[in-house]
Amino acid sequence: MCGIVGYVGNESALDVILSGLKRLEYRGYDSSGVALVNGNMFIEKRVGKISNLEDHLAGKNLGGFHVGIGHTRWATHGVPSDINAHPHTGCHERIAIVHNGIIENYAAIKKMLIDKGHIFSSETDSEVIAHLIEYYIENNSFLDAVLKALAKLEGTYGILAISESEPDTIIAARKGSPLLLGIADDAMILASDASAIIEYTRKVVYLEDGEIIEVKKDKMKTFDLERRRIDKKVEDITWDISDIEKQGFEHFMLKEIFEQPETIQNAYRGRIVIDEGLVRLDGITLSRQDINDVRRVILIACGTSFHAALVGEYLIEEFARIPVEVEYASEFRYRRPILLRGDLIVVISQSGETADTLAALREARDRGANVVGITNVVGSTIARECNAGGVYLHAGPEIGVASTKAFTSQIVVLYLLGIFLARRKGMTADEAGALLRELTKIPDKVQWILDRADAVKEVAELYKDTANCLYLGRGINFPVALEGALKLKEISYVHAEGYPAAEMKHGPIALIDENMPAVFAAPFWDEVYAKVVHNMQEVKARSGKIICIATEGDQEILKHADHVLRIPNIGKMLSPLLSVIPLQLLSYYVAVLRGCNVDQPRNLAKSVTVE
Ligand code: M6R
Repeated sequence: MCGIVGYVGNESALDVILSGLKRLEYRGYDSSGVALVNGNMFIEKRVGKISNLEDHLAGKNLGGFHVGIGHTRWATHGVPSDINAHPHTGCHERIAIVHNGIIENYAAIKKMLIDKGHIFSSETDSEVIAHLIEYYIENNSFLDAVLKALAKLEGTYGILAISESEPDTIIAARKGSPLLLGIADDAMILASDASAIIEYTRKVVYLEDGEIIEVKKDKMKTFDLERRRIDKKVEDITWDISDIEKQGFEHFMLKEIFEQPETIQNAYRGRIVIDEGLVRLDGITLSRQDINDVRRVILIACGTSFHAALVGEYLIEEFARIPVEVEYASEFRYRRPILLRGDLIVVISQSGETADTLAALREARDRGANVVGITNVVGSTIARECNAGGVYLHAGPEIGVASTKAFTSQIVVLYLLGIFLARRKGMTADEAGALLRELTKIPDKVQWILDRADAVKEVAELYKDTANCLYLGRGINFPVALEGALKLKEISYVHAEGYPAAEMKHGPIALIDENMPAVFAAPFWDEVYAKVVHNMQEVKARSGKIICIATEGDQEILKHADHVLRIPNIGKMLSPLLSVIPLQLLSYYVAVLRGCNVDQPRNLAKSVTVE
């Protein structure tokens, strides 16, 4: 995720900013930059590591700048590059901003400003903020210009802005992206994360959404967006650096599991208009005709992304009634696949660098197929090589080797893709609107499950020493069973298998005894639910233990399962987004209790760039 640091004081602003940015490196980034102001503005930004930025700053005499802002970028709009790196300026280098978050209506603002003669240099959504401030500052103070600019923005932001017109000031604003102010002796330091300031001070003011703060070296004033003054409490930081980097979580994996209410929202934010039943996937470059002509969708991926693709098969077939095939990338490339006119290939990869998926993409593309990518890493090889564009997950960097938040974001994007295709095949705006409205309920429901993580931990305590585990689900929750089993084996080294529940009687049932727990995903009431209950009885009859992911209010399940982990009520098609969360938590807690290295499990790499 992007990182922000700003400094106003008596020291070299550059030194403080660079040291703060380095503290934020653990969050992942692809480029960095600084803007310094006194009577003039100095800006330097570079793709790659902060050390690359430092190389370009070496030998420049910048110690006389005492005010500045800096940024580490994780690309969302536009590839990682020098130009797309922050800070951004308006047409003239008199205003500079750094921004975390996503400006949803940037395209409309950009068009409005271009019509007024503004010239843009980057592909980012963030650049519009600098141009808007530049536009308003003609007739306003710096603070009023920023306030007017904020009034135009839809989406999320944590912003720092500096201006040549008030070179002793930084203005910061927050909506949805964290920002805090550290108060040191004779200096103020702003940052997106306390780890960037803790070296200098432990006294902080946390900005809330809808607040804007004007900061000079010895004073600060906070306002709401209507310019009314707000009194802020100064608080003390009591944690250590190591706690902060993982934001208090013991492992990145746990942090990433807990980020899912936000990352799920980021995957659909700015892409849906519920009242019009509209899904906008602007990154897909296919013509209207090409989309109308789609007759078959082939989803290609590996590992957890493959499981998301299996969920996608249910979603796209159900919504668009287009046949879907799901292929392991490693198999697709070697079996001389038959591709037909009207095939749409969708490759799915968190990292965007998986060698097998990339090879499958090239195979399909070279045979003339339209290939769309679903990736998390902007500018990754897979994102660049798809000939029909793609959709980014906007999940932020996933650092834990076991993929969690990327999985749920992939499902959200596939849900959107299903509706996007379905609208061309006759789904009405009302039908689509109803599906999209359901989707927007998911973040709160995921939070509900996370708030009950302790119940999962208790189950993990009971089963931490198991040697084997069976995961069973049906329909759209069968891929969830596969994913639950993969998570457990990856990080706790417990042998686990996922099966469609009804397949159990065709073989795996031979394994069931009192030492073999079976984890069922049975989160809804319908005809398949009754059949899954029947499968539970088969396990029980052989003394197997049952852990069941079940819907809140389902009392029947208590008669069959030894342990019930609850999820909120939700329609079938969205249920994987909820049922997978307790399974992620279960694997995490089992691994921790077994003393495993959760974030870097043995033999695994975050991105598998070899065949
Ligand atoms: O980056 P990708 O989504 O292409 O990675 C695919 C698999 O290597 C990946 O999902 C792997 O299975 C993870 N470790 C799962 O947690």
